[in-house]
Amino acid sequence: MTWRQALGEHCELARIPLAKLTTMAIGGEADVVTVTEASDLPRLLAAGEWHFLGKGANLLVHDAPLEQPVLRLHRRLSQRQWLQQDDRQGILRVGGAHDLARLIGICARDGWGGLEGLAGVPASIGGALCMNAGTASAWIFDCVERVQVLLPNDSQLRWFSRAELNPVYRDSGLPRGTFFINCELRLHKDDPRRLLHTASTLKRAKAASQPLAAASAGCIFKNPRPDLPAGKLIDELGLKGCRVGGAQISQQHGNFIINTGGAQAREVAALIRHIRYHAQQQRGIDLSLEVQRWEIPESWFIATAEDGHLSEQGASHDQR
Ligand code: EPU
Repeated sequence: MTWRQALGEHCELARIPLAKLTTMAIGGEADVVTVTEASDLPRLLAAGEWHFLGKGANLLVHDAPLEQPVLRLHRRLSQRQWLQQDDRQGILRVGGAHDLARLIGICARDGWGGLEGLAGVPASIGGALCMNAGTASAWIFDCVERVQVLLPNDSQLRWFSRAELNPVYRDSGLPRGTFFINCELRLHKDDPRRLLHTASTLKRAKAASQPLAAASAGCIFKNPRPDLPAGKLIDELGLKGCRVGGAQISQQHGNFIINTGGAQAREVAALIRHIRYHAQQQRGIDLSLEVQRWEIPESWFIATAEDGHLSEQGASHDQR
């Protein structure tokens, strides 16, 4: 059975340029399937290879039309349900399509603490779980009790408790290709004013240090060490403001590459190689990518001696 044959009445198929569905505003056209019933997922996943899309916030997509179809959860799968509550804590089940920022706002308003340290992180709950999204002060897995997932090559939805998982910095601990459907969060009762104050302070700090008004995919690299943020390193290397075509290393935060208008994935890749080249040559540091890549050959990101200088040729690794 092909993935097209596996589509059922709970699936909507549309042809959409991914530049419209990613915060970086880059990406070719793709077949995008939106699913309204989680029970359809095992059949769909068994019928082919998919890309999984959340809010598209941490993603760099090839400019050419995509070969693999894209799967995302319909907002109907963003339900919230309290499973347990007392005067100190509670367990909230949340669907993977739920918007993280909206959830933080609702919890803070209603006096439930735990997620407010993630204020300002753009993500769906499913995407945040997949990446163990976080800030300097919190990770989503800090309050996860259980997750419901479909593992790659598995045929049924399964729950995993926190004790069975091994989440680390920007990694859920589950294999690549795991689809996150639901989670249960342990939250504690707190003062709404305090929670809203924490969330707004974090958002203000983010707005002051990150180029939030520009199209970007958030931080491009993982921090190589807790005491060496990639943004600071790129700043010290003097690379802020470097540009290839429509892509530019942010003047505001060195770990952001912004799309100033019409940028292509290969231009972003040229800047990534340029940064990697200098981090390795001048400081002996290998920077790992945090941003997820779709259908872009890994060779695009491997720096060679040519990447020491920027030129429009530097951006011509395109093979397709
Ligand atoms: N810094 C510079 N120059 C720069 C950027 C940063 O000197 O161009 C310095 C800052 O002044 C600060 C230090 O580096 O002293 C750390 O910077 P920041 O507070 O911005 O934190 P970060 O480590 O760069 C991390 C996450 C961000 C998250 C922030 C705030 C990673 C890769 N990044 O950034 O997450 O928003 O903390 O909590 O872990 C993301 O994952 O996409 C992301 C943006």
